[in-house]
Amino acid sequence: MTNHDAMLASPEAAADLLGRLPDLEQALAFYHRHLASRTAIDLSVAENILVFEHSMQKKVFEDIKLIPETSIKYSASAGTPKLREQVADLLTLALGATVEGDDVFGVAGVSSALECVAFALKGRDPVGPPLKDGDLVLLPAPYWQGFNWSFEERPKLKCVPVNLPTTGPDRYRLTLAQIKQAYRDQTTPDRAPRLLVLTNPHNPLGVNYSRALLEEIYTWVLNETDMHIISDEIYCHSQLDSSTTKFTSALALDAYREQPDRVHVVWGFAKDFGLSGFRTGFVVSQNTAVRRAMLGSDDPSEATHPLPWFTPFDSLKTYVIGELLSAPADGPTSELYTTYAMREYSKLLSASFRTVRAALDAAGIEYVHHEGDNAAQFFWLDLTKYLGKRPDHSHEEDAGPMSLGAHGLDPDEERLFDYLRAKPTEVSLLPGGVMHNSVPGYFRLCYTARQPEEVRAAVQRVGKALGQLK
Ligand SMILES: Cc1ncc(COP(=O)(O)O)c(C=O)c1O
Repeated sequence: MTNHDAMLASPEAAADLLGRLPDLEQALAFYHRHLASRTAIDLSVAENILVFEHSMQKKVFEDIKLIPETSIKYSASAGTPKLREQVADLLTLALGATVEGDDVFGVAGVSSALECVAFALKGRDPVGPPLKDGDLVLLPAPYWQGFNWSFEERPKLKCVPVNLPTTGPDRYRLTLAQIKQAYRDQTTPDRAPRLLVLTNPHNPLGVNYSRALLEEIYTWVLNETDMHIISDEIYCHSQLDSSTTKFTSALALDAYREQPDRVHVVWGFAKDFGLSGFRTGFVVSQNTAVRRAMLGSDDPSEATHPLPWFTPFDSLKTYVIGELLSAPADGPTSELYTTYAMREYSKLLSASFRTVRAALDAAGIEYVHHEGDNAAQFFWLDLTKYLGKRPDHSHEEDAGPMSLGAHGLDPDEERLFDYLRAKPTEVSLLPGGVMHNSVPGYFRLCYTARQPEEVRAAVQRVGKALGQLK
């Protein structure tokens, strides 16, 4: 019997394991997979089923039959040169800047790509002094909680949220002034922050940063500080057709062209292509210390093994992703499937966004979105006005949902989260507290986690449940 079967055979064991999963997003994914009722809908986890169901399954996966023998042996742990070239071509299209295969390094997931960059910057000659244990990483907050795992757990850096304003006309808007202020606040006579991490498009806010803002930030950071910048562009293809603030990659900035050495971009197939379980990640960097870390070094004075050896872009990934990257689109064009799929994805995403937005508006659920902004895969719901409220008498009381363990949330935010998770609503949203939001009451809804009609139904259930709070 596999572990998986054992868990399904024993709900007690599954419930026990659930209580011990440290990350709430992962706990929710596990709960919905193994324990929740069939009617429960999980919109908390950042997943994307749109492209797979639309075309990928039929056009790519149904044709992948057997893993060839050549793909069951060791292969280059940062990806084969061919695969790195193919990913460079894909990213050249997506990022609007030429990416060389030689500057692309594969690894098992973007989480690992981030960790590899952190380790590389702690090694020899990263351009500027190497980072040390306890060095500070600035992150506009809210931010994806996994940055803490990637930078703190093993590289021993320390994440510092740069809290975006949560009120006023500029709420949740990033400015250079906020970064400068955080940098100053965190600087002491013997230490200054060493890393700035920008997620573009943003998770959970969904926005693209404007080219002007990015030029301003990069110019200041690269000229006035010795910080490195990691630009996490994992959602770069997740673009609404209504977005007027167009996506600009770090690699397309003038500031980057002038000083490329301290800028590192990461991307992977988990989000835009919905292949989260594959764990694929790439670092794009021209920095020689990053290159040395990713490919290893035979320099006798400091021979090192490639970091991705331990979390590799292994032969299975190389085979399947290689097939995906070389599949042709159907029809008379000589276009690649990936080009077709990402164009279609933007249409699917835009249609889903419109459906779900209309449902949120109809249900009177507030969210943070400025016309013309991108949304990537998310709505950032503002449920602050429901904090501390209780269901009125017409609401059927339920025993409450299964506990997911302690996650240090604000008690009112947690109560609201559990209320929506309980019968009869049974919709999971990700509480903002998980993502280091500075005030309680905000929740992330991932609208690509299910087909639009199902998300619409979930939103209606949430709207009804909120309406019963007094
Ligand atoms: C901004 C961001 N970066 C990285 C990741 C993790 O990517 P992976 O699953 O490839 O490790 C996520 C996943 O939610 C994310 O939102």
